[in-house]
Amino acid sequence: MAKLCVNIDHVATVRQARRISEPDPVAAAVLAELAGAAGITCHLREDRRHIQDADVFRLKEIVKTRLNLEMAAVPEMLDIAEKVRPHMVMFVPERRQEITTEGGLDVAGNFERVREATLRMKAAGLLVSLFIDPEPSQIEAVVRCGADFLELHTGAYANAVGEKARRAELKKLVESAAYAQRLGIRVNAGHGLNLRNVMPVAAIRGIHELHIGHSIVAHAVLVGFERAVREMVESIARAEQLAVNYSPEEILALHSA
Ligand code: PXP
Repeated sequence: MAKLCVNIDHVATVRQARRISEPDPVAAAVLAELAGAAGITCHLREDRRHIQDADVFRLKEIVKTRLNLEMAAVPEMLDIAEKVRPHMVMFVPERRQEITTEGGLDVAGNFERVREATLRMKAAGLLVSLFIDPEPSQIEAVVRCGADFLELHTGAYANAVGEKARRAELKKLVESAAYAQRLGIRVNAGHGLNLRNVMPVAAIRGIHELHIGHSIVAHAVLVGFERAVREMVESIARAEQLAVNYSPEEILALHSA
């Protein structure tokens, strides 16, 4: 069954709006775990717009499941990862002007740099995941890099307008997950997933983890953090049950009906 890792960055976004101590992303991580999250993810951005260095160290102390540290593959962040020692490092591309992570990492186009960073983290005993668009050349590059996981960028699927476009993006995710598994690498997925679009992705065979942040925090503002996480865990579990009899594409069709 796909497991839910909750990204708590946007709890820190609300805090940073006032530069005070509330709401605390560490408290949100505890509630997420109580509600059934299998892991906690945070993204330490170079511009420190939400999560701060101290948060990462506090999360490492408090998180009981596992902590994933999302970051750019740059020397400053590699040094921090070696000090924090999260369960897994997730390399993502980063541009200062972007509102959120826009595209996947171009592993094929920056092969030596990404491979070097991957090997450094692995030498430190950390698992490594590379966040990529669902494309065969990127999947092959991740495998050659020696990473442990790849994370399929689900943003194009989440943002697709109309059933035909959504179906086409889902097909890319299904085929990419199958290809990656044939090449022997483990697959996660995330970005832009919410209660309305998560089920077809959760039904894709062999996906280990779904990394979901913004929609859970947005829902939590209205209904509370534990309930927001629990509802997502339940949707993922329901998708797994449906996947026994239905393909991801059929689940998408059932949902759009
Ligand atoms: N996975 C990765 C690699 C990301 O960069 C993000 C955004 O921080 C997510 C998953 C979660 O995306 P969202 O906040 O849209 O759920």
